[in-house]
Amino acid sequence: MATILPDVSRTFSEYLLIPRLTRKRQTAASVDLSTPLSRRTKGEGARFNMNIPIVSACMQAVSGGDLSIALARQGGLAFVFCSQPIQSQVEMVYQVKTHKAGFVTSDSNVTPETSLAALIELMKQTGHSTIAVTEDGSATGMFLGLITDNDFWEFEDDLSGAVKDYMTALENVIYGIEGLSLKSANQLLHKSKKECLPILDDAGRLNSLVFKKDYVDHRRHPMELLDDTKRLCVGAAVNTHDYKDRAPALVEAGADALCFDSSDGFTEYQKEGIDWIRDNFGNDIIIGGGNIVSAEGFDYLVKDGNVDFVKVGMGGGSICITREQKGVGRGQASALLDVVARRDEYFEETGIYIPVCSDGGLANDTQIVVALSMGADFVMMGRYFAMTEESPTPRTSINGQIYKPYWGEGTTRAQNWQRYDDAMSSRVMMFEEGVDAYVPLVGSLANVMATTLYKLKSTMVNVGADSLADFKKNAILTLVSEQSVVEAGTSTVFQFSSNRELEGKSWGNRD
Ligand code: IMP
Repeated sequence: MATILPDVSRTFSEYLLIPRLTRKRQTAASVDLSTPLSRRTKGEGARFNMNIPIVSACMQAVSGGDLSIALARQGGLAFVFCSQPIQSQVEMVYQVKTHKAGFVTSDSNVTPETSLAALIELMKQTGHSTIAVTEDGSATGMFLGLITDNDFWEFEDDLSGAVKDYMTALENVIYGIEGLSLKSANQLLHKSKKECLPILDDAGRLNSLVFKKDYVDHRRHPMELLDDTKRLCVGAAVNTHDYKDRAPALVEAGADALCFDSSDGFTEYQKEGIDWIRDNFGNDIIIGGGNIVSAEGFDYLVKDGNVDFVKVGMGGGSICITREQKGVGRGQASALLDVVARRDEYFEETGIYIPVCSDGGLANDTQIVVALSMGADFVMMGRYFAMTEESPTPRTSINGQIYKPYWGEGTTRAQNWQRYDDAMSSRVMMFEEGVDAYVPLVGSLANVMATTLYKLKSTMVNVGADSLADFKKNAILTLVSEQSVVEAGTSTVFQFSSNRELEGKSWGNRD
């Protein structure tokens, strides 16, 4: 007969945090949300830390290039999905790693003979208001000048006129010479009160552009997650079928971390994959494994010391039907508590700390807080990010409301990419483990995260914690009864307030 566990399978919404002493000096602003992504030995720091405990799911409808950039700018990490050909995944990683190192290759240029009409069209397409003018219209042609949307009046000037009659010519442009440091370039911009500084090579060809807005943007995002060379960080997913080809290409493109993307990571295939990547790339790369939902799964993936972090969760995802389809999985809170308890024991036994990620099923900000208090070092979310402007899906209007499509990686839709990829084409899908759905658009990632992070810090202050490590140590949770859930709500009063309506548009309205 099968073993029946004594505990029921529980979820985050069944728990509440008990407040503890808040000291006068404690404010949300002083809370430190940094957290490790890589394993560490007692007494030593982790090889890789994130500035916030949030990563995005390895999903087609979530982690594309733009979202990865937006999340790294907030201090978190995206895992670019692997359900696509290796080359396109590599391009997304590359997009993040080459984003705004300060010196930007000019991606839209004109010649002096280009008409104002064509210039305006280019400005609309690219969203750029400053365009470089080069002899041949290329990004590295002989530099002749700059033209901005202040140099002409769209509704007054003759749009058949040529750029050369409106641009600021080379002799009047302040420029830098290749080799100039970013700091000096920014100082030059500051002194000259310009918006854009072209950088030229010795022969006068355009090399790159430096923008004031990038400098300002950088100062406004002090939590950006950057590598040693000041490039934004990005993770990438791998699968157990083609990792021997995919992982080297991703590492070459600059991925900072790899993570196996599987609903069930308690497998020999995955262990072999983790070991292979570690053997071939050493300690420079961060490797995540999962998903697991038990102490037994943790022990299996962690033995031999090759995995950096493990992901926990099966069947809790908002688009997931794994439990229904296959009868496997575990309540997310129970799964996390089991793995964290074993992780802590393992730390006591070996002195090695393995970060744990709680993946999927988070329905609102409160549940993120509960997951972290239970010992997760960070959380992975799909729906949360699918709802933002930066997710890689188109806006869709349904009955006057704006939605974005969101589908599971276990749907036919997601798996269809294999039809175009030889290495994977032998896999046939017998049934789906996810659904294809829509989620409301909630706005920019930065705005949604600002609220989430503030709430998180505020709760940590209630518990008297200065850091996530403190939070886990201090947190006391209680199970809630159905009646206390009713008590927590506002069902006994009638509300006119627009606050609640606004909340309805926030990401946390799944329940
Ligand atoms: P969410 O944050 O609740 O939307 O859950 C996202 C998580 O669901 C992902 O990180 C995956 O672990 C999981 N997931 C993604 N696609 C599927 C699927 O098709 N079936 C089951 N789980 C999925």
